[in-house]
Amino acid sequence: MEKYVIIITGANSSSGIGWASAVEMAKKQPKAIYVTDIRDDQLHELAKKLQDEYKVDAIARKVDASSEDDVKAVVDEALATYGRLDVFFANAGICMLGRLHNETKADFLKTMEVNAWSVFTAIQHASAAMEKTSDTKQVSGGSIIANASIAGLRSGAGPISYSASKAAVVSLVQSSAWRLKGKNIRVNTVCPGFIATDLTTPAINALDQMDSTAIRDHNPLERFGQPIEIAATVAFLASTESSFINGQDIRIDGGLGGSYRHVPLFGDA
Ligand SMILES: NC(=O)c1ccc[n+]([C@@H]2O[C@H](COP(=O)([O-])OP(=O)(O)OC[C@H]3O[C@@H](n4cnc5c(N)ncnc54)[C@H](O)[C@@H]3O)[C@@H](O)[C@H]2O)c1
Repeated sequence: MEKYVIIITGANSSSGIGWASAVEMAKKQPKAIYVTDIRDDQLHELAKKLQDEYKVDAIARKVDASSEDDVKAVVDEALATYGRLDVFFANAGICMLGRLHNETKADFLKTMEVNAWSVFTAIQHASAAMEKTSDTKQVSGGSIIANASIAGLRSGAGPISYSASKAAVVSLVQSSAWRLKGKNIRVNTVCPGFIATDLTTPAINALDQMDSTAIRDHNPLERFGQPIEIAATVAFLASTESSFINGQDIRIDGGLGGSYRHVPLFGDA
C-alpha cells in the first residue's frame, strides 16, 4: 500500500473500530491517512501516533460524515495534495436505543442520515476521486469499505431503525460494486457482530444487569469481539491482498450469525 492515500470516517474514539483500523492500515505503510470524525478531541492524538510510530502522513480533519460538503472537501483535499485516493473506510455510525413505539421520525431519519446517507455520499465522492489518474497513479482503482453490521443482515442484533440503516448499507454496497463496473473500484462491507466499543457500552451494561451469561450463551466464542478483530479485515480489504473480493458483506461475529438460537436439546448433542 506504499503509495496509497486513505480516508477514514468516525475515527475519533481510541476504543473504536475506526481508530483500530487506522492503526492496522498504517502498519501496511500507505503514503497518507486522513483520520476524520464529527468530534476531534482524540483525533489529533491518533494522527500523531500514526506519524510517530508508522511514519505515514496522518492528517486529522473534523468531518461530519453525513454532510456531503464535508465529505467532498476532504476527498478534494486528498486529491489536491497527493493526486490520488485509494481507500475510503466509511465507518462513522450512531445507534439510538429506541423501541418501535417510542422512536420518532426525527430519530429514524437521523439514524438513516448518519449511517446510510453517509455511505452513499462517500461512495459517490470517493469513487469519482478513485477514478482520477495523475503522475502518481496511472490507472483508475480503489477500495471502498463500509461498516454495516450483522444487524443489517437479520433481526435481533440492534434497534429497528439502526438495523434498517445497516441493511441499507449492505444494499448500497452491493449495487455500487456493479455501478462501478469496469472502474477497478471494489466496494465491500464489514458486518461486525457485538464488539466492545463506546457504541455498545449501554447495551453491554444492560446485558450485564439482566444476565451476565447472555453473551456467552449466544456466541460460540463466548465473548464480545475487539475492535482490532474488525480492523484486521478492514486493512485486508483495503489492500490488494483482497483484489478479487467485491460486492461482499464480510460477517465478523465470532459465529453469532451462523446459527439459530441455541436449543439445548440439539445444541448439546
Ligand atoms: N461496536 C459494535 O458492536 C458494532 C457492531 C456492528 C457495527 N458497528 C459499526 O461500527 C462503526 C464504528 O462504531 P464503533 O463501535 O467503533 O463505535 P464508536 O462510537 O467508537 O465509533 C463511532 C464513531 O462515529 C463518530 N460519529 C458519529 N456521528 C458522526 C458523524 N455524523 N460524522 C462523523 N463521525 C460521526 C463518533 O464520534 C464515533 O467516533 C459504526 O458504524 C457502527 O454502527 C459497530
